[in-house]
Amino acid sequence: FDPDSLQDLCVADTYKGIKVNGFPCKEDSNITASDFFFAGLATPAPINNSVGFAVTQANVDSLPGLNTLGISLNRVEYSPNSGLVPPHTHPRVTEIIFVLEGQLDVGFITTANKLISKTIKKGEVFVFPIGLLHYQQNNKDKPASAVVAFNSQLPGILVVAPALFSSSPAIDNDVLARTFQIGTDKVAERLNQGFLRA
Ligand code: GLV
Ligand code: MN
Repeated sequence: FDPDSLQDLCVADTYKGIKVNGFPCKEDSNITASDFFFAGLATPAPINNSVGFAVTQANVDSLPGLNTLGISLNRVEYSPNSGLVPPHTHPRVTEIIFVLEGQLDVGFITTANKLISKTIKKGEVFVFPIGLLHYQQNNKDKPASAVVAFNSQLPGILVVAPALFSSSPAIDNDVLARTFQIGTDKVAERLNQGFLRA
């Protein structure tokens, strides 16, 4: 859903400080194959957060040749015994997942609050439609990993729990207490603990 490109290629030049919808293009004479190459998905990233996942992103920030091309990839690791990519959305983007290893319980929620969920295993594919909240969890006792692709050079991510409980500045406690129908003491507990701690 990124805009169509108007030229063969436009390797991101991130040094000019000009704000456009995407990045300005690098001079042709400075373009090399390495602008179109990224080795970062070759090995699993270490999992170092409290919910048990790790993501490596092959997007325009790590692979400048993607600028204006409207696609990108992530590699995701899930720890055994409930490793979770918690509910989140990429507001402008559709995501497709391919399981590299293991098994995942995946789902998304429609605007009618209908949960569409399925268990998917190595080699299988599932789609999370544009903008909808989705998650993946590894409920097996072995590690799992996946590749996910997006129709954007820079999908962005809005994770529900940290967005609400770790925003800066913080959302008023009463808003969260009423939203979740819990006491402000519970909200304060959550706020103190933080979310997705490293
Ligand atoms: C998984 O849903 C991801 O966005 O990496
Ligand atoms: Mn996602």
